[in-house]
Amino acid sequence: MSLAVERIGVVGAGTMGAGIAQVAALGGYETRLYDPVPAALESGLEKLGASLTKGAAKGIWSQVDADRARDRAGGAHSLADLAECDLVVEAAPEDLELKRELFTALAEACGPETILASNTSSLPITAIATRVPHRERVVGMHFFNPPALMKLVEVVATDDSAAGALDATTEVGKRMGRTPIRAKDSPGFIANRLARPFTLESLRMLADGIADAATIDRVCRLGGGFRMGPFELIDLIGLDVNLSVARSFYAQGGEPERWRPSPVQERLVEEGRLGRKSGHGFYDYGDGPHRPVDADVGIEAPTLDAEQLAKIDVSGPVILPRLLAQIANEAAFALEEEIGSPADMDTAMRLGFNWPRGPLEFTALIGAGNAVALLEDLRHEHGNAYQPASRLLEMQQ
Ligand SMILES: NC(=O)c1ccc[n+]([C@@H]2O[C@H](COP(=O)([O-])OP(=O)(O)OC[C@H]3O[C@@H](n4cnc5c(N)ncnc54)[C@H](O)[C@@H]3O)[C@@H](O)[C@H]2O)c1
Repeated sequence: MSLAVERIGVVGAGTMGAGIAQVAALGGYETRLYDPVPAALESGLEKLGASLTKGAAKGIWSQVDADRARDRAGGAHSLADLAECDLVVEAAPEDLELKRELFTALAEACGPETILASNTSSLPITAIATRVPHRERVVGMHFFNPPALMKLVEVVATDDSAAGALDATTEVGKRMGRTPIRAKDSPGFIANRLARPFTLESLRMLADGIADAATIDRVCRLGGGFRMGPFELIDLIGLDVNLSVARSFYAQGGEPERWRPSPVQERLVEEGRLGRKSGHGFYDYGDGPHRPVDADVGIEAPTLDAEQLAKIDVSGPVILPRLLAQIANEAAFALEEEIGSPADMDTAMRLGFNWPRGPLEFTALIGAGNAVALLEDLRHEHGNAYQPASRLLEMQQ
């Protein structure tokens, strides 16, 4: 297993690939970007160059570093041009069969020591690796968008991944100036999975008539300290995109009740209300900014205090504890399934989703015992979506 990575190949020169090639070149690696579509390769290399120039102008890195990175980065015209690479990061479209074929072709083009990493967000790395000889060199290397700005990278281990390949990928992540965390190959890895309750539980509260979308968003911003409320976020991502993520989790997780996609969201998607891109989703975007002036409420800092939350709305004291209990519960399920360490889970949500606290920090804040008591009440009323994880029960002691 090649431990000292010097040359990196990036396959797929789109949104992610161009950014990954940029951080690779800035990290000091000889970098080759490949795309089967010549215009996509050209545009990816152009974006890379423009972004290096812009970063230097803003003082994020020096002009000298930008020039050196530009010299290290170049295009590849075929997969065979990646033969000398020690690590290849794949950022091609999210299609399992396409990625399987690509990994087989990469294994033929490169030596058995080359680490092959996928940037997939939702496909199992194990499934991508099935036809690859020497599967021990296949890992996940999951960046966040935009890769040049988002510090988190998840290094994903299958049951076959060799420790050497994982360690080398982690080292590369560090040299790229990212913060690597280790995740087990499992639905959505760490960050996207732990983010599930933020939107799903908010959609359930909306369906239960606890409050409207704008109020839930406000409570999350003012009380929770989240930069954006869940409905603003879904509108930004696109209701259809967020729904297909929800469906993928539900299917991959064996249809657990807490991951059941929201019927409210399904209906809105059927009606063509897709969020900002269609002009309306949970909000209408035709008539200027929709956000109320939060400062008017008079909450200075994020708070769980019921009296403070009631200043936002009568439903305020109900919303945040319920959301945070489900966030704590998801983290507890993830710990039970050993998908990552508690510290990595907190890092994932702070860096990958800009949460003000990680999920285990939230658990400590609300208290595991309070979370369990609330979940038990909700389970009584609404069913198994609120089944507490055994690990959360243990955390009460
Ligand atoms: N966009 C995001 O926010 C994001 C975040 C994290 C991970 N990802 C993952 O990164 C991957 C790429 O996503 P993206 O948003 O950059 O997509 P994109 O559509 O912007 O880019 C994909 C590129 O792959 C090229 N391509 C097509 N067929 C190919 C093939 N057979 N071999 C190599 N390249 C091929 C396309 O020409 C295109 O340039 C996906 O697996 C996605 O799930 C995306």
